[in-house]
Amino acid sequence: MDFNIAVLGGDGIGPEVTAEGVKAMQAVGRAFGHNFTLEYGDVGGISIDRHGTPLTDGVRELATSADAVLFGAVGGPKWDDPSAPTRPEDGLLALRAHLNVFANIRPVKVYPELTDSSVLKPHVLEGVDMVVVRELTGGLYYAQPKGRTQTPQGIVGVDTMRYSESEIERVLRVGFELARGRRGKLTSVDKANVLETSRLWRATATRLADEYPDVELEHALVDACAMQIVLRPASYDVIVAENTFGDILTDEAAILAASMGLLPSEAGARTPGFYEPIHGTAPDIAGQGIANPCGSILSAAMMLRYSLGLTEEAAAVDRAVQTVLEQGYRTADIATAGDAATGTTQMGDLVANAIG
Ligand code: NAD
Ligand code: IPM
Ligand code: MN
Repeated sequence: MDFNIAVLGGDGIGPEVTAEGVKAMQAVGRAFGHNFTLEYGDVGGISIDRHGTPLTDGVRELATSADAVLFGAVGGPKWDDPSAPTRPEDGLLALRAHLNVFANIRPVKVYPELTDSSVLKPHVLEGVDMVVVRELTGGLYYAQPKGRTQTPQGIVGVDTMRYSESEIERVLRVGFELARGRRGKLTSVDKANVLETSRLWRATATRLADEYPDVELEHALVDACAMQIVLRPASYDVIVAENTFGDILTDEAAILAASMGLLPSEAGARTPGFYEPIHGTAPDIAGQGIANPCGSILSAAMMLRYSLGLTEEAAAVDRAVQTVLEQGYRTADIATAGDAATGTTQMGDLVANAIG
């Protein structure tokens, strides 16, 4: 079959890891007889440098007309000036909003081969298999008013926490549906002891639970949940959280998997779906060829599965990553990699070979 994929590598290690995600797709193309037409675009800091904006209309169009988007990461010290009129991250947020990808699914898988590479004790990691559903197009990231204003009391920075019931309901439903197809447990995260948006969130979750009698709903306050995620991670099945909470909890959950570089994500399985590793541009290691590409490769696998309907092909990519880890290959971010760490492109080659 023929597919159009928009490839937006972005900044820092974004293009480095995305190239390996693409390599895995091309290996799938060869092994299974598919043709992926890749259309590349600038986004983030590189787009600011070249076009004066983090997201051009052209790239917006490119993404909209593609079957799916493979995204890298954006941002970096070069564009971090707090008084700059625009930032690389604005391009990512604008794209997510434009594509209306409101539910970001971030699976947290622990490879048995890597339990000795996590800072957590192996027995804590036994049986960990959770998915975090992060609301992606609302909350503090988007709600108005937002900005900086001069007041008689001095400069004031404003962000607004705002959620409508319908925004909450649609992402909660994604959580309930996912839980229904898994172990049947949904943890709805909020801060209902303080925040009005959270009280609406909790009430909505409770109301919806009647429609999903096969799913066991539990509510958790975000601060306590942050603690429980490293204390008893195996007790979680599906976690659903608003945008900011989900962002923070998934970086924390990456500790379970042993590295940020391993976690993929998908948003909006309907085309065009949006696929990106959860990590950022890693300025501390960018350009060195040592970044872990598995987050991008596994995001490409999610794309095959959820947007392109290529289930067997996706499983082949997942298996290939598993195989390469079983063979003992480790990028430098994995604590047990040692001196013989595998580089980004070599890791991508190994996975591509294992696919095909
Ligand atoms: P980061 O995720 O870029 O890096 C955090 C740490 O994890 C660093 O030590 C980094 O080296 C390591 N790391 C991350 N991904 C890795 C990989 N694939 N392989 C090996 N090590 C990896 O977070 P940060 O340093 O807080 O942010 C850097 C920049 O990235 C910021 O500008 C931020 O806004 C941006 N960012 C972008 C995205 C995105 O585009 N989706 C996500 C997160 C952060
Ligand atoms: C992520 C990142 C982004 C977010 C930033 C770069 C805007 O941290 O994708 O997790 O907060 O959504
Ligand atoms: Mn994040």
